[in-house]
Amino acid sequence: MDSELVLVIDFGAQYAQLIARRVREANIYSEIVPHTASVADIVARKPAAIVLSGGPQSVYADGAPQVDPALFDAGIPVFGICYGFQAMARALGGDVAKTGLSEFGRTVITVDEPGQLLADVPVCFNAWMSHGDSVHAAPAGFTALAATEGAPVAAFEDIERKLAGVQWHPEVLHSEYGQRVLSTFLHEIAGIGSAWKTSAIAEEAIARVREQVGDKRVLCGLSGGVDSAVAAAIVQRAIGDQLTCVFVDHGLLRKGEAEAVERDFVAATGAKLVVADAKDQFLGHLAGVTDPETKRKIIGREFIRVFEEQARALDSEADIEFLVQGTLYPDVVESGGGEGAATIKSHHNVGGLPDDLAFTLIEPLRTLFKDEVRQVGLELGLPEAMIWRHPFPGPGLGIRIIGEVTRERLAILREADAIAREELTKAGLDRDIWQFPVVLLGDVRSVGVQGDGRTYGHPVVLRPVTSEDAMTADWGRLPYDVLERISTRITNEVREINRVVVDITSKPPGTIEWE
Ligand code: XMP
Repeated sequence: MDSELVLVIDFGAQYAQLIARRVREANIYSEIVPHTASVADIVARKPAAIVLSGGPQSVYADGAPQVDPALFDAGIPVFGICYGFQAMARALGGDVAKTGLSEFGRTVITVDEPGQLLADVPVCFNAWMSHGDSVHAAPAGFTALAATEGAPVAAFEDIERKLAGVQWHPEVLHSEYGQRVLSTFLHEIAGIGSAWKTSAIAEEAIARVREQVGDKRVLCGLSGGVDSAVAAAIVQRAIGDQLTCVFVDHGLLRKGEAEAVERDFVAATGAKLVVADAKDQFLGHLAGVTDPETKRKIIGREFIRVFEEQARALDSEADIEFLVQGTLYPDVVESGGGEGAATIKSHHNVGGLPDDLAFTLIEPLRTLFKDEVRQVGLELGLPEAMIWRHPFPGPGLGIRIIGEVTRERLAILREADAIAREELTKAGLDRDIWQFPVVLLGDVRSVGVQGDGRTYGHPVVLRPVTSEDAMTADWGRLPYDVLERISTRITNEVREINRVVVDITSKPPGTIEWE
């Protein structure tokens, strides 16, 4: 990596990834390291600056991670955030008091002495806080800059040593001027340039793959999702025909998605693609199965079986050395970081290949966040629909049909789902809604009246949700007129459906998918 590096030391808060993203938004490359990393290891990476993240509530709690004071002797600029701010104050001899007074959520920051860090922000603004202890006296050599009701010292700086910190969370969007404060530290106090551009990511990733692969052959499984498509596009640019992509068509994708892989992806990238049409095989094994977990197991098992067959055939034609995986940076961080083997997310990512098909993994997206992956995909000319596709489960429509999965039911659901997606897009709500399952209640029928006759059709459930990480979710408040259009079109255009209902359950207690 030619550009300068900022290391975010993760003290266990959920914000470390957000901080790393904000640093990248300031056009500086950043990575996360665990707080257990030694000062020697950190210094060896020659970071242009270090950011200490938030963390547990109290620096006095049993086993609370501390900062080795030696970190501040290395001449590297350091910025402390929340817990990192307190840990920094404590390590350098400031006074961190156990006040028993906590501040959570929106808090007013009052700037007493702007110094350099707060020179560009108003004297009073709102920021997002989450702390118990507070800094009562800044360490020697530091200037206290701001305060809140519960934190006598809420920001400080020592310009000479290029050290600074804030009690609030500048990385969260609810904090006003957050990005400006972070940027001021990085660019003006630490003196780091803005060399890292997202547009350079693709070029860099392509060069790295070229170097890793040489003249060897590479295999990549495409799922229809954005990660595998962008990973494949990068590898294709790097080594052209040495790459073969395999797409297992299990017949459980939504309308237009198999075509997007078979036609649009190939047109955009020129990649060599083998399509394994395994629709009959999957449907055959799913016949008569209604239990959700059994469906998942069957789909997972057959997926690996088909992929393995294809891989074996290609491997015997000409030795294949590498397998592409669309691992993203959050997966790397969550599985402990480091350079070791990647976590394999689901059956979809061909986790179960046998030992005699041992490939070396290529992970061109390993340092990227999802929004950066999308950007790279757009730069490489991939179809917009593929880039902005909502998350979609590996077992696909197979777990969106309650009851047996049959060809007829798949066709019904595919039409209804396509209408719902189309209307959501038309309403300009694709990015407000995180995921929008449409679920066919295949074993349920209800009475209706359409035209002059009584009908006895199936209901579909609309399940629009908002979420950040799928761990928790809220039901998406779609405007009534959008719901009305979806309902009218589905019941008019999909003959077998005579009832459309909306799921208004949050997660928990409901999951996003019905199965
Ligand atoms: P739930 O339904 O548990 O879903 O709230 C959370 C997220 O995971 C997706 N999901 C799956 N993804 N294989 C997958 O690859 C699966 O078996 C599976 N089940 C659920 C779901 O779409 C949501 O994004």
